[in-house]
Amino acid sequence: MAGHSNYVPQSAAAKWLESRLPVISLVRGSFVDFPTPKNLNYFWTFGGILFFILIAQILTGVVLAMHYTASTTMAFDSVEKIMRDVNFGWLLRYLHANGASMFFIAVYIHIFRGLYYGSYKAPREVSWILGVIIFLLMMATAFMGYVLPWGQMSFWGATVITNLFSALPLVGESVVTWLWGGFAVDNPTLNRFFSLHYLLPFMIFGVVLLHVWAFHTTGNNNPTGVQPKSKQDTVPFHPYYTVKDLFAIVVFMILFAYFVFYLPNYLGHADNYIEANPLVTPAHIVPEWYFLPFYAILRAVPDKLGGVVLMFGAIAVLFILPWLDTSKVRSGAYRPLFKQFFWIFAANAVALGYLGAMPAEGIYVILSQICTAIYFAYFLIVLPVLGFLEKPNPVPTSISESVLKGGGSGTPLGAAAAPETK
Ligand code: HEM
Repeated sequence: MAGHSNYVPQSAAAKWLESRLPVISLVRGSFVDFPTPKNLNYFWTFGGILFFILIAQILTGVVLAMHYTASTTMAFDSVEKIMRDVNFGWLLRYLHANGASMFFIAVYIHIFRGLYYGSYKAPREVSWILGVIIFLLMMATAFMGYVLPWGQMSFWGATVITNLFSALPLVGESVVTWLWGGFAVDNPTLNRFFSLHYLLPFMIFGVVLLHVWAFHTTGNNNPTGVQPKSKQDTVPFHPYYTVKDLFAIVVFMILFAYFVFYLPNYLGHADNYIEANPLVTPAHIVPEWYFLPFYAILRAVPDKLGGVVLMFGAIAVLFILPWLDTSKVRSGAYRPLFKQFFWIFAANAVALGYLGAMPAEGIYVILSQICTAIYFAYFLIVLPVLGFLEKPNPVPTSISESVLKGGGSGTPLGAAAAPETK
């Protein structure tokens, strides 16, 4: 992933392997000797946290799949069997279901970290774009996973979302029939969702490897946004960041455990404990919390096709973000106006989440429209224009300078910057 290792194999076995498949130097170069900016704050631990959750989801998911039956007549009961009869089945299921929520909490923090510190800007565009692809794959995986227990919300959520494709001109109806494998969400739909739900996490794993490769090629961003200039600006990944990441993972596990053991159903919906019934529509069909902002954008538009286009557009805009932000300064820490707009954007995202959970009527629709407009304006108007209008604060000349000035977390240094430290 990065050829920074000075590793010289010592034992005969290591020499033998190294000359045939240099995995040891690859791992050492990427996760032991890798020069990492010395000023990374705790927001940089979320990549490691995400990796941990991905592995946990795959492990719990594979074991759950040993006891789950993907058929409309048996799926709901097989999940009950997991909860009651399978040894520690309840734990596996609650870990997996809450793990999905934890995954999204971590990924949203990770994305907002990137937005604030300008990690999407050159030269890290590819890391960012691969991240957006991971995000899309995560959403597809979570959506299909939620259908598997075959509860009321599983069935109706799947029906609403797959039906969105019927808005496509000309081919809409055919696409929906193709997705369903029939004329309604039914057994063929459940089967393919199970198949894909099992497959996609491994694809995510593959894209994560590319993601890591990409930012190991450019080097990590850091809170100042200034590229490391000398050896003094970096530390080896191990032990500094292995220990810091492990500590953060343990703290995150405490939050995770709190949900699993004390509030296992808090983030779910009671209706999903009722078996799917195509003849009874639930009073409110709401997606899981992590989809709510996008659901609000979907419903903000009265026209179905328009809603679908905006909802997908809300993610598509992230792909071109590196070219929308025109500022020469990477880190938001030195951009006074950007900071204000960033926090408005963040509050707006939370507001969209709230609106997504409300019924699509009256004032809620109007507010959703305003928030949707703010969402797109941030990317399409604010970021392109701000680069020209804003006068950034002085940026430190190096990471070391910022650290010694007490500005390691990216605090603006003020006009009188310290002389470069040796
Ligand atoms: C399974 C999901 C993901 C995993 C396991 C993952 C992993 C990581 C890791 C380990 C890092 C380096 C440490 C850090 O910066 O926290 C990183 C950096 C980065 N990630 Fe992700 N990531 C994921 C999803 C995403 C998503 C969804 C985005 C954006 C849409 C994204 C954007 C970035 C960017 C731009 C960087 C470079 C930041 C830097 O160089 O410091 N990642 N990721």
